[in-house]
Amino acid sequence: MIPINKPLFDEEEVVAVSQVLRSGVLTSRTESASMVGKFERAFAGYVKAEHAFAVSSGTAALHLSLLASEVGYGDEVIVPSFTFVATAETVALVGATPVFVDISLDTYNAIPEEIEKALTQKTKAIIPVDLFGLPADMKPIQEIAEKHGLVVIEDSAQAHGAQYHGMPVGNLAHLACWSFYASKNMTTGEGGMITTSNRSYADKLPYMRTHGEKSEYTSSMIGGNFRMPEIEAAIGYVQLQKLPQFLALRQKNAKRLTAKLQDVGALQLPIVPQDRNHSWYLFTVRLRNGNRDSTVNKLRKLGIGAAVYYRVPIHLMPFYHRFHRNKLPNTEKAAEEVFSLPVNPAVTIDQIDYIAASLRSILH
Ligand SMILES: Cc1ncc(COP(=O)(O)O)c(C=O)c1O
Repeated sequence: MIPINKPLFDEEEVVAVSQVLRSGVLTSRTESASMVGKFERAFAGYVKAEHAFAVSSGTAALHLSLLASEVGYGDEVIVPSFTFVATAETVALVGATPVFVDISLDTYNAIPEEIEKALTQKTKAIIPVDLFGLPADMKPIQEIAEKHGLVVIEDSAQAHGAQYHGMPVGNLAHLACWSFYASKNMTTGEGGMITTSNRSYADKLPYMRTHGEKSEYTSSMIGGNFRMPEIEAAIGYVQLQKLPQFLALRQKNAKRLTAKLQDVGALQLPIVPQDRNHSWYLFTVRLRNGNRDSTVNKLRKLGIGAAVYYRVPIHLMPFYHRFHRNKLPNTEKAAEEVFSLPVNPAVTIDQIDYIAASLRSILH
């Protein structure tokens, strides 16, 4: 099966992990820890943020960002429903209410006008998602947030390498949250990062990541154990050096797949607005008026790891249905019609051609 995504590593990561093990320092809680700091500085540089804080997962990054923004009981947070559950789950975890808004069927990202319409006296934050690796339309979202005094936490979990107006994503948000889960454009196995250029967040995040302790075993603020282990940071540092090469291969594959499928009328190929660069975490197409599931099954039978993200939008999930308030027709349409094709760096040009030819013949 040509996988939709898979972790790519070689001897370099193996050596980096061995070095950490030999050093005997496994946690970033100890003063002699070095890998977490090194990874954070390199990642902050890469995304052009002033500060980066490594954490245990992308979910932890969102959770900690919400805690640091003092979002809690009685507050509302605007989120898309067409995303991975962690975007809304972390809002519920801090006791706040996720308010779902609809997405554009061109970009699959939240529509700024819908965000504005969903505002109430209780709205405290917005979490735009750079879905599939395409940046959310951050400028209007930032303007709404500024006008109403809201916090913007960008869910950039899928968007390492993506750009908005020529800048790495995350720069127009108060906080950006990244994931290094095994399928992502770069990985640490499990892991995450918060980036920010905002001093007040940077002052408290390192303490909140370790139980709110400003001095050992004395908590001055709310927190928890959100730390990234040294081994993961060592892998992350190596992966970050490889990221440009990974992204170039993803882009090359996405470009070729686009060219090969361009004239298939039933398919809506990814639409990338001019002011954005896609990170091609997922190459997601929409099958208009066709049978999406049978198409995906046929592709899988041919050894092509086509996959459906996200079949059940969050507002229709059993637990989250209680938060369902606004009509979300585009979200529900996307959930029924989209599927993703492999463009990861391990996919060869011949395989791209095979994927395109297979899909063409299925849809013929
Ligand atoms: C959009 C989105 N948000 C949040 C997350 C959560 O990241 P993690 O799996 O590292 O907790 C993911 C990744 O799986 C994601 O794709």
